[in-house]
Amino acid sequence: MKIDGQAWRTIWLEPGGRSIGVIDQIQLPHQFTTRTLRSCDEAAEAIRTMVVRGAPLIGVTGAYGLMLALQVDPSDASLAAAFDQLNATRPTAVNLRWALERVRDRVAPLPPAERAQAAQVEAGAIADEDVAMCEAIGEHGLELFQELAAARPGQTLNVLTHCNAGWLATVDWGTALAPIYKAHRAGLDIHVWVDETRPRNQGASLTAYELGREGVPHTVIVDNAGGHLMQHGQVDAVIVGTDRTTRRGDVCNKIGTYLKALAARDNNIPFYVALPASTIDWSIDDGVAEIPIEARSPEEVTHIQGRSPDGAITTVQLSPDGSPGFNPAFDVTPARLVTALITERGVVAASAAGLQELYGDV
Ligand code: MRU
Repeated sequence: MKIDGQAWRTIWLEPGGRSIGVIDQIQLPHQFTTRTLRSCDEAAEAIRTMVVRGAPLIGVTGAYGLMLALQVDPSDASLAAAFDQLNATRPTAVNLRWALERVRDRVAPLPPAERAQAAQVEAGAIADEDVAMCEAIGEHGLELFQELAAARPGQTLNVLTHCNAGWLATVDWGTALAPIYKAHRAGLDIHVWVDETRPRNQGASLTAYELGREGVPHTVIVDNAGGHLMQHGQVDAVIVGTDRTTRRGDVCNKIGTYLKALAARDNNIPFYVALPASTIDWSIDDGVAEIPIEARSPEEVTHIQGRSPDGAITTVQLSPDGSPGFNPAFDVTPARLVTALITERGVVAASAAGLQELYGDV
């Protein structure tokens, strides 16, 4: 995507090939800065602290993290230790394990001296494929939005989204936001309700930032406003991303997504989930029972970050001293509440049959 006319990806191999560049998402939207990751430790820390976040980008960062480890020590022990270190950073986004396994399975059979280069090539391929899959998701979602718009001639198409599943969460284009970008660029009259997405406010900070940069009309709302807007006919569709979708179509995404799905169902509003193949977990069915849900620091709930009047990025305390917090970072929307999955291969029902129809060869 373009920032001030310059094309950016969220992650890139730096000249010399021994370090990775990333956009520092903790400083956004108030400061656009980049960071250089020079070691597996730094890659792991960037994932854990959410300098980089979003399931596909976490996966790509993990892949490059293995490359950085193998550049220092290409041994079996180093590969295994780096795999475990990176895989332990955040438990929910399945893209991380998927990308680490792909790089490990590619390099493990190789002589140690060839491993770092092969890991670099594989990580680069994962990044490029992610861009292509996200753009394809954009095209398939555009068709859906054009159908919805055609049913409302002369009206603005109002779409609600939760968290950030835009280009900042992937390598480029995004998943849930890709159809919105394609629609806007195609001249469709579209407006986005942006859930703030407590506690880390990925919607209010990152999604609003992206949409603003792309010139897409949008409005930031509190997470609890969506149901009310739906009741009053101000939402035509909901579109979100996912961190892990099971083989029967149960969808895990940012905490609060399940409540949006319930409200959408209660108001007969289509609830779409956009995802690349790398976010499907073919090893599990029951998302509520089987997907590990990350529990992050309660401080993310009891405190909040923002820009103070003097321009400094600062954190303030919301709740009184001594009040404990609890911070599950994701929840699961059962397949029965999902209208359709928008993938790089097309749009299907959120069901085992639907996913098999598209990915039967996987
Ligand atoms: O905690 P985060 O910011 O990594 O959570 C991100 C989300 O929940 C996204 O919706 C999901 O990863 C899809 S990103 C294309």
